[in-house]
Amino acid sequence: MEQINIYSGKKAISRIVTAEGIKELDACLKPYRHVFAVIDRNVADKCPAVTQLTEILKRHDAKIRLLEVSEDVKTLETVMEICAWMLENGADRDALLLAVGGGIATDMAGFAASIYKRGVRFAYVPTTLLSQVDAAIGGKTGVNFEKYKNILGVIRQPEFTYLCPQVLESLPKRDFLSGAAEMLKTFMIEDNGNYQKAADLFFDISSEFTMETMVNGKDERQVWKAIMTRNRRQMTELISAAARVKAGVVSRDQFERGERRKLNLGHTFAHAIETLAQRDEGERFSNHDGVCEIKGVTHGEAVAAGMVLAARLADRYYRNDRSETTELEAKVSNDLWDADIPCYCPYTIEEMAETMKKDKKAEGGKIHFVLPKAVGDVEIVDLTVEEVIRFLK
Ligand code: GLY
Repeated sequence: MEQINIYSGKKAISRIVTAEGIKELDACLKPYRHVFAVIDRNVADKCPAVTQLTEILKRHDAKIRLLEVSEDVKTLETVMEICAWMLENGADRDALLLAVGGGIATDMAGFAASIYKRGVRFAYVPTTLLSQVDAAIGGKTGVNFEKYKNILGVIRQPEFTYLCPQVLESLPKRDFLSGAAEMLKTFMIEDNGNYQKAADLFFDISSEFTMETMVNGKDERQVWKAIMTRNRRQMTELISAAARVKAGVVSRDQFERGERRKLNLGHTFAHAIETLAQRDEGERFSNHDGVCEIKGVTHGEAVAAGMVLAARLADRYYRNDRSETTELEAKVSNDLWDADIPCYCPYTIEEMAETMKKDKKAEGGKIHFVLPKAVGDVEIVDLTVEEVIRFLK
């Protein structure tokens, strides 16, 4: 078990505990007398590690509520339901609200705990790789409102975040790779030799999966579980390394006045791709394979495409590299494709421009773009969308 702290000045304000399996959660819960747990119903039904987690919770006399979780119910209403359940069950100021699930569940529970009785303690067991390396670290909580994602919320740190790869064994491969993209993004920001280690591991995992399922015809779920079990130690090391990077950034800039913006590498492009893909979902188009239907992108796939565009932008901005495919762009996209992470951007930069202009983090017409000069070396540069179009054309 390893502990990584998030600091405010010299004071540790939140801890991240990493372990290969779920059983050490028991020790993390010991100091808390009144535990209330909300668990994403999907993982409660499908994930054996969450069954084990539920047994641990029962030993701690925790109250448990299963939560229907989707982007559509990431609302104030669901937050109020969590608060009402806590109230009905006598949750007091000393309660600990534990959220088990992906980023939607942890964001909502963190927000509910932050407003219930003016704030009670909370903790997370994220069950997707995406939430393990991003959403569950750093204290951003919140819900969607009107048409805006995560527009209502607060930054408030969990007591602890418990990270273990055992919970990933029932995660579909596409969702795993979505988190893998976000992990590679983290190591693009701060490397310490981990970017290549992660890229190589994801390549091995994807190749073995393809070999066993497509060539040897084995059952996908069983193959995936076996691969994940075998790679627990390496995954724990990489998850810990990514958590250390994010914990460091958040400790230096908890409220995103500067350095924390680096974590948005590729995200301005990614949000535009996600918005356009959502608009077009279900539309049909023709290509050489016949008529296809546009399927939505995962967040990680959009981030992957955004990272490739950011690499291209950086090559043009710093080196005036006008090649068809620039040097860093080629490296990043090869690494992503090798790991079986689609990173193709289906939209032109002009198509993305309108959506990018609405970026909620834009200030005075400029957007804080995060430009990778090299793996592990990024810089924030303020640019207008028009300037970005000129560089990328
Ligand atoms: N997801 C970026 C951040 O936590 O700041």
